[in-house]
Amino acid sequence: MVDYKVTPTVFGQRPPFKTPDKIFIEELTEEGFYKLMSDFYDIVIESDISNFFPQDPEMLEQVKKHNTKFFIEVCGGTPAYSEQMGHVDMVKMHEEFSIPEKARLEWLGCMKEVLEPLDISDEAKQTFWDYVEVFSKHLVNEDQKASTYEDMVKV
Ligand code: HEM
Repeated sequence: MVDYKVTPTVFGQRPPFKTPDKIFIEELTEEGFYKLMSDFYDIVIESDISNFFPQDPEMLEQVKKHNTKFFIEVCGGTPAYSEQMGHVDMVKMHEEFSIPEKARLEWLGCMKEVLEPLDISDEAKQTFWDYVEVFSKHLVNEDQKASTYEDMVKV
């Protein structure tokens, strides 16, 4: 069983995070990653954070391909993102957008929706979830008390 736990962001804190273990990209493959992130952004643009992302289908395709390169690299795959962009401070990069906790929760909700049906091991899914759950806290840059994602997955 995958534990899709979601813990609240303490605004301004940078909790330590671990990048996903290689098992995730080994089981998913890079091709599978492009499919996963394509499905993810298709859900994102139907979600409460759709306004953050381009509505133009062509531009969205570019975002999908570009952002997937980062996720592949952070999972131990081809370093195509940094070859293209050099080192990018993701926290700084996201400061362009005002991201409250509520947006993080919605983003995680969309990611859970595409991870759950994936035909890979729970161990692989867990290592990826644990990374995005914690790293996404670093990107929250607007101090706004948050709900929902079903109010933090009422346990
Ligand atoms: C684990 C969490 C996340 C990771 C690893 C991540 C990663 C990325 C990457 C790699 C890019 C492309 C940067 C570039 O231009 O080179 C990006 C863009 C972006 N991210 Fe995130 N992100 C995360 C969470 C979020 C969250 C929670 C939001 C809030 C809604 C968000 C909103 C955006 C937006 C609006 C863009 C720009 C899209 C565009 O190019 O139009 N991200 N993100």
